[in-house]
Amino acid sequence: MQASADRGAIDRNAFVRLIDDHRPNWSLQQEFYLDPAIFALERELWFPRQWVIVAHASELPEKGRYIVRKLFDEEIIVVRFGDGEDDIAAYYNVCTHRGSRICTKDGRGRLLVCPYHAWSFRLTGELQTRQDLPEDVDPETLGLQKVPTRAFGGLVLCGLDPAGLPDIEPVASGLTGLLREHGVDNARIVARKSYPTMANWKLVLENFLECYHCRPAHPEYFRVNGHVKVTAMRDEGQAAAWQEEVEAWHSVIGDAEFNKGVWEPGGLDTMPFAMHRKPIGSGRSTLSDDGGPVSRLMGGRTGYDGGESGFRIGRLSFLSAPNDYLTMFQMIPRSAGETDVILTWLVDKDADANVETDKVSWMWDVTTVQDKIITEDNATGIASRAYRPGPYTPLESQTAFFIETYLSQMRTLVTGERSEAKSDWEAPLQLFASPKAACAAPRH
Ligand code: FES
Ligand SMILES: [Fe+2]
Repeated sequence: MQASADRGAIDRNAFVRLIDDHRPNWSLQQEFYLDPAIFALERELWFPRQWVIVAHASELPEKGRYIVRKLFDEEIIVVRFGDGEDDIAAYYNVCTHRGSRICTKDGRGRLLVCPYHAWSFRLTGELQTRQDLPEDVDPETLGLQKVPTRAFGGLVLCGLDPAGLPDIEPVASGLTGLLREHGVDNARIVARKSYPTMANWKLVLENFLECYHCRPAHPEYFRVNGHVKVTAMRDEGQAAAWQEEVEAWHSVIGDAEFNKGVWEPGGLDTMPFAMHRKPIGSGRSTLSDDGGPVSRLMGGRTGYDGGESGFRIGRLSFLSAPNDYLTMFQMIPRSAGETDVILTWLVDKDADANVETDKVSWMWDVTTVQDKIITEDNATGIASRAYRPGPYTPLESQTAFFIETYLSQMRTLVTGERSEAKSDWEAPLQLFASPKAACAAPRH
C-alpha cells in the first residue's frame, strides 16, 4: 500500500481490503510489517490511544527534577512538580515562543528554561516570562502543551491523545496494590539498556508474546524456567509434571489475592492489564543463572517463594518481578522498520550498594540480545518476495490474539464501524481452556 503521490494521503480503502483479506490466526501480509504508509496510519490512529510506561518514579525523586524521554516519535519532558505520588506532569518538548526544544537532557530546576531566547516555564507548565510579550498577547495562552500523565505504584505512564486514550483509573486501582506488594514503588534503578531492533514493532511484540521459540533460541531461558514445559513445547507428560509443580507451589504459597493475580483483557476503549504469578521452578529462588538470590528481597517479603510475577500494563509495557529484582520492558515503535526495546532493572532501594548488576540483568539481557537477532532475521525474511503469511500454532495463541486484536482495532479506527465478530480476546478464550495461564506477561 502506497501513499498516493498527489496528496500524500493513505488509501484507506486498500488498507481495509488488506485487513479483510487476512486469514485469521495466520501471520500478517507483508505490507503490515514494511509499509511506511501503514506505520503512518498506526501513528495517527493506534499509538495515540496507548498508555505506556515512560519512567520509574525514582527517576523523578523530588520536586523540580525533570527527564527527557521519547513517547512514540514525540519527545516529552516529564517533571515532578510536587511531593505527592501523582504530582508528575509531562509536556511536549516544544517551546511556545518559536518552537525550540526546551530540554536536551535530564535535570533539575525551579523552572524549565528554553535555551533559545530564555523563555521560562513553571513546573506546572505555565509561561513565567512576561516582560517581552507583545501587549495584545495573553501569556496564559502560551503554557506548555500537556501530555496526559498518570503515576501510580512506582510507575509513570503517558499517552498522546487526551480524547482517544482509555480511562487509566481502573488500571491504577487494579494494579497499585499489587505493584506495591512487589516493591515496585520502593525500588531504584541499577541498569538500563536499549536494544534497537531493526524490525516492525508488531514483530517485536509477536515474538515477545510467545515462547514457542524459547527452546531453539533461548538456551539459558529454557534451562532456568519451568513454564517452558508448557509454553515452549506440546508434551502431555511434561505438561502434567508442570501442572503438578504449579499446584504444589500454590499449596505452599496460599491463595491470597496477591497470588491469584488479575486479568483484564481490555478493548479499544479499555486499557488491558494483567498480573500473573508462577513458580520459576526446580526450587530456584529467583530468575538468575544459578537460581540463587541476586539482591535484597522486595516488597517487604521475609522469604523467597520462588515465584515470578508477570505484569502487563497496556499493550506495550511489561514488568517481570521475581522476588528480589524487577525488569521493566518498554517497546517503542520508531518507524515501519525499527523498534526500540528498552529494559530497566531495579532492586529494592535499600539493597546493598554493591549489588551485582550483571547477575540482576543476566536473564533478560541474554534473552533480549537473542530476541533482537531472531526478530531481525524474521524481518529480513518477511522483506523477501518469497514471504507469505504462515499459521500460528497453539503455542503462539497470545501472538495470534494480539494480531487479531490489532486488526479489528485498526479496522474500527479507519472505518468507524465496530466489529462485533472479532472482539478482543474472544478467539483465545474459546481456543484455550485456561485463559489466565495464557495471559501472563512477559511470556518467554
Ligand atoms: S524558542 Fe524558546 S525562547 Fe524562543
Ligand atoms: Fe524470546
